[in-house]
Order: sequence, then C-alpha cells, then structure tokens
Amino acid sequence: MLLPSDFVYPLFVTFGHGVRREVPSMPDVFQVSVDQLAYEAEELRSLGVGSVLLFGIPEHKDELGSDAYHPEGIIQQATRELKRVDPQLVVIGDVCCCEYTDHGHCGILSGELVDNDRTLTLLAQTALAQAEAGVDIVAPSDMMDGRVLVMRQALDRAGYPNLPILSYAAKYASGFYGPFRDAAESTPSFGDRRSHQMDPANAREALAEIETDLAEGADAVIIKPALPYLDVIAAARQRIDVPVAAYNVSGEYAMVRAAGRAGWIDERRVTMEVLTSIRRAGASQIITYHAKDAARWLREENGWASAAVPTGVTAGD
Ligand code: PBG
Repeated sequence: MLLPSDFVYPLFVTFGHGVRREVPSMPDVFQVSVDQLAYEAEELRSLGVGSVLLFGIPEHKDELGSDAYHPEGIIQQATRELKRVDPQLVVIGDVCCCEYTDHGHCGILSGELVDNDRTLTLLAQTALAQAEAGVDIVAPSDMMDGRVLVMRQALDRAGYPNLPILSYAAKYASGFYGPFRDAAESTPSFGDRRSHQMDPANAREALAEIETDLAEGADAVIIKPALPYLDVIAAARQRIDVPVAAYNVSGEYAMVRAAGRAGWIDERRVTMEVLTSIRRAGASQIITYHAKDAARWLREENGWASAAVPTGVTAGD
C-alpha cells in the first residue's frame, strides 16, 4: 500500500526573490526562491508528504563549487527557512558539486577528469555546512569513491554522530536524468559522468556498491533511476536490512507527464501503477516529482480528509 508519507518531494531552490519558474521539460515542477518555500511546506504538509530533497541553483558557480559549502549557500538558506516554517518537515540535502561548479561536473577537475580524492574534501565540507544549517539527512549523489566514509568522519568529529547518511549507492549513468539537468542547470560543459556512474548492464556491481556504502557508514541507500532498475531494487531489498529508497527520476516523470498531457495514456492511472511497482519491488521511500499529485489522488481514493492523512513512516515490505 502507498501512503503520502512514503514520498519524498524534490525541490529546486534558486537565488532571487519571488521566483517560481516552471522547468520546461518537467511541466508542473518549478525552480523556487527561498521566500517561496513557506508555500511549498504548507502544501506538502496539507497533503501528508513529510520529506523534501533539496537541490540548489546558486547565483554564482565556480571551479570549486563553493556555494555548496558556504554557510550562506543556497541549500543552507533553504534549509533554515524550511526549518523555520515547519520544524517537522524532514529536510534531506543533496550533496554533490555539479550544480555548483561552472563546468557542471560532480567534483574538482584535474585536466578533463574529476579528481576523486580532492573532491572528497569538498563533499565532507558540504555535508557539514548542511548539517550546521539544520538538515535532517544528507544524501550524497556524487558517486565519488570513499565519500560516505569521509562524510561520516567529518560529521562525527563536528558533533553530528546521529545525522543519517542516505547514500545514492547505486546510481546508473542514465539517459533518464536529462530533464533534471535542465531543472538543476547542471549539464556538464563537456564529457559525461560515465567515469563515476554505473553501467546500466551491471546488476551485481550495484549490490557491491551498496555493501561498500553500508560498510563506510551509510544508514540507508538509494537506487536510481527506479523504473528501469526494479530488479536492482528487489535484489537490494533481499540482501540488506536498512531502508532502500528509490528515485523515480526526472525522465521517468517527464515521459508519463508528456504522454498524459498528449492524451496518449491515463496519467493518473499510469502514475499510480509506476509508484506501486516501485513499492512492490521493495522501496520503502520513493523520491518522486509526482509526490503532490499522487498524495492528492491517494486522498481522493481513500476518502481521507486533509487533516487525517496518515503520516506515520511505514516500514518497507
Ligand atoms: C546529481 C544528481 C542528478 C540527479 C540527482 N542528483 C543528476 C546527474 O547525475 O546528472 C538526477 C535526478 C533526476 O533525474 O531526477 N547531483
């Protein structure tokens, strides 16, 4: 069974004031400025969606992605605002450099390649800056080797031993991230991310990545994308006992929304079928751009009054 509290809603937070800009390739998904977050939080609360995953679009990008770990960086501002308006909302910070670097890659470059080890320092600093701003969970999506360990150590040392790390353990090099890169303005200026994201043909490698992340201290893992990798979600669920979350990514959303808008499919029915399949495969949490619609539809189907939407976090299977 699906509940609104199973959904995590991704939010793209941008600089400026009064901004609410629709992402062209993701109808009904908006980049919003910090002052708009109170409305978002209110809407999510009324729908029973209890968590958000934050992505930032900084005003200035540079070679080292410094807005990601600056105390006044966009995610840090967004986190403080969300916590101010709704302390109950679970705020998850995405940790990666690609939205913050002027070249759009996920870390520091050495020539044309991402320098794994130098990037680790920045990722640890980012996790720390987010923790200081008040995030409840950090979610590293960069896919550098060793990142969970350096973040865990940095957080422990700084007095955040209980701050959970939700790691994107199995992140495939996927064509389904296209619309996200519009939304987060993070398309690499050259090359791609194949050196650190996984080959779609490999399933066992995903399980190895998950085990590495757990050994380094991850508290829960994300499999991404969701729909083309349901087998990986199911295999992970069988193998490990920590929560497995799935990211129903931008391309999955865009396909369903576009075909729905064109009248080629019944969007509501297909969306609920997709989300149910991800849950059936074994995901306990689903990160999805359909979160608000799906929560509304669930409320209609179940006849919940808005105040009575069940909000308890459900265990996996
Ligand atoms: C990287 C990141 C990406 C997504 C989430 N985090 C993009 C990428 O790896 O290029 C994609 C999510 C989506 O497509 O919805 N910070």
